[in-house]
Amino acid sequence: MQMSKAVDMSVTVAGVELRSPVLAASGTFGYGVEFDDIIDMDRIGGFITKGLSREPMAGNAAPRIIETAAGMINAIGLQNMGVKAFAAEKMPKLRKLADAVVIANIFGFTVEDCIEVIHVLNDTPGIVMYELNASCPNTSHGGMVFGTDPELLGDLVSRCKVVAKRPLMVKLSPNVTNIAGMARVAEAAGADALSLVNTFLSLAIDVETRRPRIANVTGGLSGPAIKPIAVRMVHDSSRAVKIPVVGMGGIVRAEDVVEFMLAGATAVEVGTASYADPRAVETISTGLRKWCAAHEIEQVRSLTGAMLS
Ligand SMILES: Cc1cc2nc3c(=O)[nH]c(=O)nc-3n(C[C@H](O)[C@H](O)[C@H](O)COP(=O)(O)O)c2cc1C
Repeated sequence: MQMSKAVDMSVTVAGVELRSPVLAASGTFGYGVEFDDIIDMDRIGGFITKGLSREPMAGNAAPRIIETAAGMINAIGLQNMGVKAFAAEKMPKLRKLADAVVIANIFGFTVEDCIEVIHVLNDTPGIVMYELNASCPNTSHGGMVFGTDPELLGDLVSRCKVVAKRPLMVKLSPNVTNIAGMARVAEAAGADALSLVNTFLSLAIDVETRRPRIANVTGGLSGPAIKPIAVRMVHDSSRAVKIPVVGMGGIVRAEDVVEFMLAGATAVEVGTASYADPRAVETISTGLRKWCAAHEIEQVRSLTGAMLS
């Protein structure tokens, strides 16, 4: 029987070589430690931690996650243990997992908050990259979301880039009309890579009680419902910049990854799918390898930007 050639699954994002383009998305994979017994870490490209803030945060009141027709709405409120506890309690365990590739997700309500988080992480070994979440409100500017205002975004990225001792990937908000413009702003401010999309602002109402189904009233929509919009945004952004784009939004199977890569993504993240199946990231990564083998694709990176018009 003729053996098919091994597929080269490696991709490089901002100088960091990943053994697979399939990563676990922030907020859907805990701090990574929780998934060690569930997933073979060496079968996935890596994972992005839950968002880390300067101080611990309790998050929003329940209900804060609901299912929708093709995805879910969440308003977790960025609950996390705080960056110092993460560095002291979780990172030593993660460093013992030889195959874990850790990307730390950072957020803050002021630029200074983000810088403080980066300082703590700079002194923490075992992290390959930072993902800066630009989708949270800047409290010093009346709550205007960093990622929806070009000036705030440029300021955030340039000031974080100066202090970051690791590559800085900027996660863009999709709640804008001109995503390519925001991608250019982040690149010009020094981003080493972009990731998109975060969740779409949304609202669901219980028609019997006439109340919002999420206690916070609005929340972020994720899952298959957002995939075609996310693919379009990855397409537009990747054509607007030279830095790599990491795509996400509704990926549930290998073919979805191929679609994002054809649109211009160098790598992808899988979020909501892990709620339905905690092994989803590994299954999708393995499925991608098989898909490439079946389509005689020797290097997965050859898919990036290869959409035909
Ligand atoms: C429950 C939940 C929590 C999330 N928390 C974060 C977070 O802390 N930081 C962040 O940048 N994105 C967060 N996200 C957004 C995801 O990382 C991802 O961008 C989004 O869900 C779209 O991908 P998906 O459709 O595969 O879930 C969260 C998403 C969900 C569903």
